[in-house]
Amino acid sequence: MKGIVLAGGDGTRLFPLTLATSKQLLAIYNKPMVYYPLSVLMLAGIRDILIISTPSAVPIMRSLLGDGSKLGLNLSYAVQDEPRGIAEAFLIGADHIGGDSSALILGDNVFHGAGFPELLRRTRDTLDGCTLFGYSVADPERYGIGEVDAEGMLVSIEEKPARPRSNNAITGLYFYDEQAVEIARGLTPSARGELEITDLNLAYLRQGRAKLVELSGAFNWFDCGTHDSLLAASQFVQFIEKHQGERVGYLEEIALRMGFIDAEACYQLGAGMRQSNYGRYLTEIAYALD
Ligand code: G1P
Repeated sequence: MKGIVLAGGDGTRLFPLTLATSKQLLAIYNKPMVYYPLSVLMLAGIRDILIISTPSAVPIMRSLLGDGSKLGLNLSYAVQDEPRGIAEAFLIGADHIGGDSSALILGDNVFHGAGFPELLRRTRDTLDGCTLFGYSVADPERYGIGEVDAEGMLVSIEEKPARPRSNNAITGLYFYDEQAVEIARGLTPSARGELEITDLNLAYLRQGRAKLVELSGAFNWFDCGTHDSLLAASQFVQFIEKHQGERVGYLEEIALRMGFIDAEACYQLGAGMRQSNYGRYLTEIAYALD
């Protein structure tokens, strides 16, 4: 399975924060936003990952994450020069996917919950068609909204409906079988000129192969597209790390736990940043986890 992090867009709802930088490089507490979605793909066991971003942000992403080899990953980069929709990721990423199944995650999505790594691996192992993840929200008109039958199969999906049929927001994490590129190629742009991810998902729904896994109340999900959600996500990660002693989005630690790198590599990556709590934490856990 191949991974894609879509970190494009102009982040206009975050102006002036994003006038001179990319949204996905902004901080969520103590790390760049893009660390969080990348960590989700890593927890799913995906190592071949394409990062799609804007022309100005790709060089910065590359200097931040490199070719991924330090994390035991194979990272590549591609440009989305205009925000032409989430489903365009499958046209830009067609060669990267190369006929394989794929997982796409939006670069501004932060997930956290007990049992998430197991859920990701189970989703990957049992994938048939597409699997999406639902999260109950108070403001459903801001999201793609799904309705499911008793078996958890999607029966309707609506993008930002004025009158939502449920509170079940479809989060920005999508697992697809090997048909996604072909389906994306056949999509027509919506009224706003974008290749909508909802239209791609509807194609799977029509085949009766679109599943929605509802993330329970023990989960937390943030789409960090606004000033308030950006701050809420930061405060959430700070709370989890300071009060519960759990860590979220430490790429080097995840690489070690997943067996992508060894303890010494993790230790050295931490030592290079030992002036920060982030780096010191890595030096402390590297050999303890081994
Ligand atoms: C996009 C999708 C929407 C989804 C949301 C999740 O909306 O179009 O279906 O619920 O991401 O983050 P956007 O946030 O780009 O407006």
